[in-house]
Amino acid sequence: MCGIVGVTADPDQVPNVMPMLVQGLKRLEYRGYDSAGFAFIECGSQKLLVFKNKGRIDDVVRSYGVSTYCAISGIAHTRWATHGAPNQVNAHPHLDCNKKIAIVHNGIIKNFAELREWLVEQGHRFESDTDTEVIAHLLEHFSREERDFFSAFKKALRMLEGAYAIAVLHEDEPLRIYFARNISPLLIGLGIGFNMLSSDIPSMLPYTRRFIVLNDGEYGYIEPYRVHIEKEGRSIDWRARITTITWSLEDAEKGGYPHYMLKEIMEQPRVLYETYMGLLSSREVEDAAKILADTDKIFITGAGTSYHASLVFTYYLSLLARELAIPFIASEYSTYSRLSGSDSALIVVSQSGETIDSLQALRAFKKKGAKIIAVSNVIGSTIPRESDKTIYTRAGPEIGVAATKTFLTQVLALTFLSLRLGLIRGVLTQSEYKDLVNELKRAGEAASVSIEKSSRIIERLVIGLKKSNSMYILGRELGVPLAYEGALKVKEVSYIHAEAYPAGESKHGPIALVEPGFPVIFVATPPAEHLFEKLQGNIMEMKARGASTILFGVDGYEDVKGADIVVTVGPWGEVLAPYALTPPLQLLAYRLAVALGRDPDKPRNLAKTVTVE
Ligand code: G6P
Repeated sequence: MCGIVGVTADPDQVPNVMPMLVQGLKRLEYRGYDSAGFAFIECGSQKLLVFKNKGRIDDVVRSYGVSTYCAISGIAHTRWATHGAPNQVNAHPHLDCNKKIAIVHNGIIKNFAELREWLVEQGHRFESDTDTEVIAHLLEHFSREERDFFSAFKKALRMLEGAYAIAVLHEDEPLRIYFARNISPLLIGLGIGFNMLSSDIPSMLPYTRRFIVLNDGEYGYIEPYRVHIEKEGRSIDWRARITTITWSLEDAEKGGYPHYMLKEIMEQPRVLYETYMGLLSSREVEDAAKILADTDKIFITGAGTSYHASLVFTYYLSLLARELAIPFIASEYSTYSRLSGSDSALIVVSQSGETIDSLQALRAFKKKGAKIIAVSNVIGSTIPRESDKTIYTRAGPEIGVAATKTFLTQVLALTFLSLRLGLIRGVLTQSEYKDLVNELKRAGEAASVSIEKSSRIIERLVIGLKKSNSMYILGRELGVPLAYEGALKVKEVSYIHAEAYPAGESKHGPIALVEPGFPVIFVATPPAEHLFEKLQGNIMEMKARGASTILFGVDGYEDVKGADIVVTVGPWGEVLAPYALTPPLQLLAYRLAVALGRDPDKPRNLAKTVTVE
């Protein structure tokens, strides 16, 4: 899983594409940052030059002085290593034996070992351990047999099995960039006197707002004034497929905050309001609820944070519609898809709409005849395109690798869906439904009040917590998925081990680790009348072993005993509690990361969009 970008321009319109290539790639760094590389046709000499190395884009650009070059066209890559260690030889672009054809690739070529063996027999010399390099040699091989390079390109594509988004630059055709997409995302950005390619929209937003989302199996080439797309040998008329994006560039940049993660946490009140208004004014939720109403079995899936949103949905669906939704982690789909059929519906929650595990779950259920509902933040991404119905969140682009604002917008969309099904099922009366929908309008307010009430104390908490190697985050009922999400955030960005459990379960094992000073955080959700006593008992159990106990709760938990620190975040009832209790845990994770000198926007070993199984 990686990011790729490519630009080709008429030199009279864009004298040098290098700044576009470097900036475009930097916006893709969230997709992986083990290594980076550039291949471009130098202005004047018209030669293909390649610079690549392990490390972050800035380091690679600086060490080779990449920005000092002038280019008329180029391709670039930021890598998240799958085949081969993250080092210089394995960094993309990869070249053919004659060093005239350069390729960048996102995805995995499943049959690369056989292809490599065959190419070696044909006399090709390989430099790297990557699956990608076989494509460069295949292109070289077929370009000797075919009358033109495009025919060679098509022939090479037919040999590839697996997932790929690729871009290819050939020294002999300096203003043409070849591309192909299968499973891994790739889009074309249409400019005036230039055209570009990228793995996502934000990386192209400073240059254009007009895009074509490529479908699986499509390939072709771009030139400064031409776009050619084919599928299975037939030309595609792409003009009707142009999407114009209205996000502002500012939306995709840091807006004065030191990190995207903090900016995105702070944006939650606004994006919750925007998502709310969007959900109110569209038919997405109503249509999706009808699909659910017509099925016997409801499954819901996602990966990482999106899975936690799925767990929140299961809670609300039971509470508001008296229905069972079976949640599962996307990569574990086989156990569940086996039990699905035309009587089932699967809700696939995916911020990016590209996570391969979620996509595979979707496809397995679809094959069985299940109806598919997507909840996604990215218009035109693969999961929505393969679903029967999509509910879009309106969080805007999320750049921080760890999901923050998208979680609560997913929760909001899924709560709407639960309410609507509750209405259809007759569990809620029209007026109860209306009141609850009205209450949800305050989701953004709940987030903002809570941020205000908890920010100071979190800064103080971090002083002690940053010295810990491990912590627990415990909750009951609705508090359980919120605790899972909090622990995931702490792990992802601060690298402190944080584990979440249902508080009741903590004495069935986890408590064995508790010794004096061990931090245990409680997430105390409503209704306090119902949960107070039990949580109180769990806090006492931890306190008795010397744990350092912290409670984040809605109003009603002020008088809890045994908690060293109690942070209450406002008077929020059951449908609003997630919006109030999630931001403090996100802020805690963020502050811990910063205090420990970690980069919260780009945690080690992680990538934002995971397109490998
Ligand atoms: C990656 C990201 C997580 C995210 C998960 C699912 O692991 O690092 O932050 O929650 O993918 O992503 P999706 O785009 O499907 O919601």
